[in-house]
Amino acid sequence: DVCFTPDDYLASSASVVVVIDVLRATTSIATAFANGCRKLVPAATVAEAVALKQDRFPDALLAGERKGLIIPGFQLGNSPFEYVRNIVDGKTIIMTTTNGTRALNFARNAAAVFTAGFVNATAVCECLANMGRDVVFLCAGTEGRFSIEDVLCAGLLVRCCGLSATLSDKALAARAMYEGVRSELLETVMASSHGRYLREIGFADDVAFCLRHDIFAVVPQYCDGIITIA
Ligand code: MLT
Repeated sequence: DVCFTPDDYLASSASVVVVIDVLRATTSIATAFANGCRKLVPAATVAEAVALKQDRFPDALLAGERKGLIIPGFQLGNSPFEYVRNIVDGKTIIMTTTNGTRALNFARNAAAVFTAGFVNATAVCECLANMGRDVVFLCAGTEGRFSIEDVLCAGLLVRCCGLSATLSDKALAARAMYEGVRSELLETVMASSHGRYLREIGFADDVAFCLRHDIFAVVPQYCDGIITIA
């Protein structure tokens, strides 16, 4: 199944959830792990992130965004270009973002939760195929609203892992949407509402990076409040 927004997920019963926030949280998460990050702790609010650092992870890097920009006093924003090896290798990162970490919070009680973007799509599909369980792709969207880039990525994931699966109508719709625009993915996402916003604030290169396909083979898994490599 595919949930086009986090609210959609409330009606879902699948035990395996894949959270997708292409622009940019789940792309930055995959990039962080590909560059050696040891664990990543999502936080719902800035205050929670700061408290987690003070109380539990004093050596962690504070990361995240509000309105797409780095949070004052934090070491990292939410651009995947910031999550380079010489900064994140071996590190714990505490991350709070507007929509991505909120969607993770919705999924926290599922039996298994993974994060995906275009950058690690095939690795995630291979991991899901080995599990042989029902899967729901949970699109983070933007402040509760549908975001096309997340649904397009869900469509790619359905296409890649759904060959022998029974697909819901929303999974069929996401796959059809992806197949309809895959030859002009960049133009489509650049024209989307979050794509336009990121371009306006100077992150056009991030949008292009977030659409790169399978540059990483990592499968981030969220378990007991912490993301590590599956
Ligand atoms: C979010 O979680 O809302 C996003 O990743 C926003 C962004 O930094 O582009």
